[in-house]
Formats: sequence, structure tokens, C-alpha cells
Amino acid sequence: MSCAQPLVDAFNRRITYLRLSVTDRCDLRCSYCMPEAMQFLPKKEVLTLDELHKVALAFIDRGVSKIRLTGGEPLVRRDMIELVRALGRKLGDGLDELTLTTNGTQLERFADDLAAAGVKRINVSLDTLDPVLFETLSRRNRLGDVLRGIAAAREAGLKVKLNTVALKGLNEAEIPFLIEWAHRHGHELTLIEAMPLGEIDGERADHYLPLTAVRDDLEARWTLTPSEHRSGGPARYVQIAQTGGRLGFITPLTNNFCAGCNRVRVTATGQLYACLGGAEQVDLRAALRSDAPDANVALALDEAMRIKPEKHHFRIERGAAPAQPRPMSLTGG
Ligand code: 5AD
Ligand code: SF4
Repeated sequence: MSCAQPLVDAFNRRITYLRLSVTDRCDLRCSYCMPEAMQFLPKKEVLTLDELHKVALAFIDRGVSKIRLTGGEPLVRRDMIELVRALGRKLGDGLDELTLTTNGTQLERFADDLAAAGVKRINVSLDTLDPVLFETLSRRNRLGDVLRGIAAAREAGLKVKLNTVALKGLNEAEIPFLIEWAHRHGHELTLIEAMPLGEIDGERADHYLPLTAVRDDLEARWTLTPSEHRSGGPARYVQIAQTGGRLGFITPLTNNFCAGCNRVRVTATGQLYACLGGAEQVDLRAALRSDAPDANVALALDEAMRIKPEKHHFRIERGAAPAQPRPMSLTGG
């Protein structure tokens, strides 16, 4: 297939990676992500399955070779697996990798279907192995479901990478144990700094934990060797001699990684955000619902390349408003 003009932004970064949110809904309420009484969008605001498919194809046509489906929680959307199947058919035909980020609660049910559709690797969010802390953090008692989901995914032959948001005074003390557990079960684990996205009930600054401090702590315990491994995202890796596994760090606050950005995000309502931390957006839903959808989506993608900012300006300050009012559950992790 010939590829239409590739997506290159004003800073000469080639965009090859799309994160596509299929729903803003979630069956957890992680306290760093959303308030307890989160208001989800009316369903009519959200792109249809067909529209999501068209968006993905438009990006593939412009040279995007990796798509990550996200949410909210992607697996709570009823027709999600149909989208996975449809996009799975593009693997080897423009698409190199189809993956998803999930909280794992529904994985036991879907692991086989995902593998059958051509998904090879998934990211599962896991902030703690302690059921009490899990319920405190996510406001739901679902750790058992998540652990069964991870096991089912492994059995289905999926590679499972774990994502852990590092939280001061919450899972902080458990981080080495989480890493050991992950490596013992053959999973890579990536630590993430909490980002100031969306209003939450508490004060983010209370639990912000810079990964520079975590890394120092781990270096006192283990031998960490920097690794050249890259996974197509912003994570930087080390190999840990004692556990025999790989550990990633995603450090939006302490070490800006925007120079190598290769991605854009589309929300479940079809808003393309050129940067996770910026307000720059184009409305793909309007383009899709216009008289000339193909031409207008192509124009919208060109516009996105013009407005993509050089970098985010995240800071976590006590009492400050979030950098962006929209939560991760809307923009897609
Ligand atoms: N900062 C950092 N990570 C977040 N996530 C959700 N909200 C935030 C935030 N404000 C994480 C989830 C999941 C991934 C999609 O993003 O825990 O691992
Ligand atoms: Fe749901 Fe993920 Fe937000 Fe937790 S962090 S509430 S799992 S979208």
C-alpha cells in the first residue's frame, strides 16, 4: 500500500504512534486520576465503532505503524473487541503493532480474543499487590480480578508489561517488592511519575514522588545497568542484576523526554490532542461527520502537525490547578 504524506510536525518529529481512546469510562476510580464522583460523557458524544475504525485507518494511511487502544478502561466498551479484530487485520498491512493499555479487571474474559486478533503485548496498570491499598487507591475491591487477568493474559501468550504510578506514602515502600514480583513472573515493569492532569479530590502534591529519588533508593539496594532498550514510548530502561529483569522509568516531571516524541492522542470523542500536556487540539469528529470526511480528516491531521507543541510544561505545585483540566481517562494513557 502506498502511504500518503507522512505525518511530520514543525519540529521535524515523525509521528508514527497513535494512542486511541475508545471510552472515557472506567470501572475503577483511581484517586490520582479522577474524583470519586466522576462524571462520564454521554454516549452520543463518543465516536462509534465505525468512526474509531476510520480514524485508525486514516492514521495508518499517513504512516502510523503502532496503535495503542486506551481509555478510560478500553475493555469496558462493549464492542471494543470488534475494533481490535478489525485493526488486527491491518497488521502486516501498514500496521506493525496493535496493543492496549488496560487496568486488567476484564482481562480474564478477553485475553484469548485479544491474542487471536493479533495483539502480542499489552500494558496492565498495577500500582500495588496489597488488596487493602488497591481498594484505597482505586476505590474498588478488584485486585483479585486484576491478578487473574494478568495470569490469563500470560497463558494466552500475551507479553504483559506492568505500569506502576509511584505515589509517595502510598505504594512507595512497596516498589521494590512490586519489581521483584513482576520480574519473578516474567514481566517488565515501568514506574511512572504522577502527572497533573484533571481535577481530583485530594492534593496531588501530597503523593507526588519524583523517580529520581526512587532510582537512588533502588541503586542502594540493587545493581542497575542503563539499557539501550526502547519500546517506542518515553520510557528509559535499566537492567537489574539481582532480579534479572528490566525496569522502566517514565519521568515527565524530572526528565523531559519531549524531543523524541513520536505520538499523538485521540480521545473517545474524536479530539486529537497533539500533546498529553497541552491544549492544542483538532476536532476529528467534526471532520468525520462532515460532507467530505476523507479530505477533512486529512486536513485535520495536517493541522495537528502544525500545532504540535515542542514540549509539555508540567509542574506539580501545592494548590495549583492541573496543567490540563482533562484527566488521563479522557485523553488516553
Ligand atoms: N499521572 C500519571 N499516570 C496516570 N495514569 C492515570 N492518571 C495518571 C496521572 N495523572 C496512569 C494509569 C495507567 C496509565 C494509563 O496512566 O495508572 O497506568
Ligand atoms: Fe481507570 Fe486508569 Fe484512571 Fe485508574 S488510572 S481510574 S484504571 S482510567
